[in-house]
Amino acid sequence: MKVRTGVVSLLCVTLLGAAGQAGAEEPIQPIAPVKEINLAKAELGKKLFFDPRLSKSGFISCNSCHNLSMGGSDNIKTSIGHNWQKGPINAPTVLNSSLNFVQFWDGRAETLKDQAGGPIANPGEMAFTHEMAEDVLTSIPGYVTEFKQVFGDDTINIDRATDAIAEFEKTLVTPNSRFDQWLLGDKKALNEDELAGYKLFKDSGCISCHYGEAMGGTSFQKMGVMEEYKSKSPTEGRKAVTGKDEDRFAFKVPTLRNVELTYPYFHDGEAETLTEAVDVMGRLQLGAEFTKEQNAQIVAFLKTLTGDQPSFTLPILPPSTEKTPQPKPFE
Ligand code: HEC
Ligand code: HEC
Repeated sequence: MKVRTGVVSLLCVTLLGAAGQAGAEEPIQPIAPVKEINLAKAELGKKLFFDPRLSKSGFISCNSCHNLSMGGSDNIKTSIGHNWQKGPINAPTVLNSSLNFVQFWDGRAETLKDQAGGPIANPGEMAFTHEMAEDVLTSIPGYVTEFKQVFGDDTINIDRATDAIAEFEKTLVTPNSRFDQWLLGDKKALNEDELAGYKLFKDSGCISCHYGEAMGGTSFQKMGVMEEYKSKSPTEGRKAVTGKDEDRFAFKVPTLRNVELTYPYFHDGEAETLTEAVDVMGRLQLGAEFTKEQNAQIVAFLKTLTGDQPSFTLPILPPSTEKTPQPKPFE
């Protein structure tokens, strides 16, 4: 794993862009449609993603906070977990999360599979234990059959469950945004304002952190490079993982794909609109004050990054049995 800190030089970004195939001269590559998926495993993972019985309350599923009808996020400042607990941080989207170099704002999980075990056992989120989750799944014959079909034997454990969830998450890519159509050669896909916004995005330096397929998810960067970011949130970012003072307020650069859908913005959810987020990014990261018109052009560009949203038949979950541990919504 390569960890980059500090602003990536524009030269380096240009080289990265040149290595891409389509839109070779651009520092951003189109999102590739999903490939190499184990369909049966992803199908099982989809059920688990939607199954609230993996939580203590029997009420909270991954989809509660990463609502796939709302851009894979919850659209609230910070998430609400078990027993209506106020979470410490904004929920990033699960869309295109397979493109992240590490998971979580502070990168504390290396892979989607590692990540998926976290929320189930987090007392402030699903508040369950991995053992209880295994007991629930083992008590449901529909799951027993499906795990066997996917993994070849009778073992049901959290390792396999998170493996399946991660496989499903790989399907949550969003190709075919208007910007990608433009990158792929349809020069009419963007209007003048949107193109002007893209030019500003590159020329003013946003691209030095938000580049690559997902336009983010490739490095940790300090929030507040030119000017300090003032936050009420106690979250310290990457420092929580490395213990180093210089990593205080370094966060994984979030993806800008589908950013029109994933409001509010920043790790503390304090920016309510894209206009505000662009203004703050300009001033704090680049020392740039955009005019109203420039800001609107960048926002117009960001709205062209909404791709095809995942669309599938809602999974029908196999029913519980007498053996299934009872949900405990109020404990
Ligand atoms: C109670 C709300 C909640 C639930 C339930 C929840 N998440 Fe999350 N999720 C979050 C929050 C908040 C974060 C950011 C936490 C952090 O970075 O410290 C997050 C982060 C993630 C990320 C990392 C994305 C990135 O860009 O770093 C993935 C992937 C993810 N969750 C998937 C899942 C899966 C799979 C489940 C179900 C097993 C799940 N989440 C359940 C709120 C939730
Ligand atoms: C030095 C690196 C860097 C530069 C330059 C930069 N960003 Fe960011 N961007 C980040 C980081 C880090 C975050 C997350 C900050 C946080 O949550 O506290 C972020 C967050 C955002 C968000 C919010 C996304 C979300 O889901 O919460 C938007 C929108 C955004 N940037 C747009 C821009 C634009 C537009 C520019 C140019 C004006 C820009 N950024 C320049 C690093 C950068």
